[in-house]
Amino acid sequence: MSFKRKHLLGLEGVSEEEISHLLDTAESFKEVLDRPIPKVPTLRGTTIVNLFFESSTRTRFSFELAEKRLSADTINFSTSASSVKKGESLRDTAQNIEAMRVDMVVIRHSAAGAPHFLTRCVKGAVINAGDGCHEHPTQALLDMMTLREKFGQLKDLRVAIVGDILHSRVARSNIYGLTTMGADVALCAPTTLIPVEAEKWPVKIMHNVDDAIAWADVVMVLRIQLERQQANFFPSLREYHNYFGITRERLERAKKEVTIMHPGPINRGVEIESILADSEFSVILDQVTNGVAVRMAVLYLLNEEK
Ligand code: CP
Repeated sequence: MSFKRKHLLGLEGVSEEEISHLLDTAESFKEVLDRPIPKVPTLRGTTIVNLFFESSTRTRFSFELAEKRLSADTINFSTSASSVKKGESLRDTAQNIEAMRVDMVVIRHSAAGAPHFLTRCVKGAVINAGDGCHEHPTQALLDMMTLREKFGQLKDLRVAIVGDILHSRVARSNIYGLTTMGADVALCAPTTLIPVEAEKWPVKIMHNVDDAIAWADVVMVLRIQLERQQANFFPSLREYHNYFGITRERLERAKKEVTIMHPGPINRGVEIESILADSEFSVILDQVTNGVAVRMAVLYLLNEEK
């Protein structure tokens, strides 16, 4: 079995076999990262551009590190230091960079569908590093890798995704990925932060966070994305925290072990209590570590299909 795709644009429609193969490959690259010299020549001669039209810490640095660990040549683009500031379009930016003989493009953009558009403008492989409120496939893959490491398998695992589902590309990719892998997924948020299309997804919808914690093996906490919110979806951050904030006290009340995840960046004291984010329940930094191995696997497998 191999991953026979030219691009990685999202996890919608990606099969269980393909996801398993991606995760198995990421596990083998994690072993490389534990070596004294954590580098392999796999992508020597391959040139990759990282096009980040939106800010990023984890995704951008882990793609850059993954590319270096695979011995690829890389170019890093950020809007503030580019000719986008002078009005150049996405299409012209990408085609000019490709004219310098680039093989793969990693793109983060505030517009949903920007990576899909790019596949029609460039010949190389395109990897979605987060497009608007649509998908963030490598985040969901690293989340699934972290859960598979901890629980052995994803089938029948109960994952409650709590927070701003409406604006979350992480939620969408995880819903597609986790349900394909046989996990049970619940969404928990105020009604205003659950998208209408959620009725069509194979997920439970909850509005009481204590019920969600009581049900779940894993709580995936999502950031309140104030920068994407056009309207007031809840009265105040304090009120949101009181009703939906994940706290140690809530976990203790539920009297059960629950694994806490968060894709970052964290709003400490809003969607999650600060001490809980740093507690023994949290696998947040394991997620970040696995991000490098997952991105190495994606780059390697797409390069095989070039
Ligand atoms: N999880 C995530 O996408 O983080 P960054 O925005 O820092 O890349």
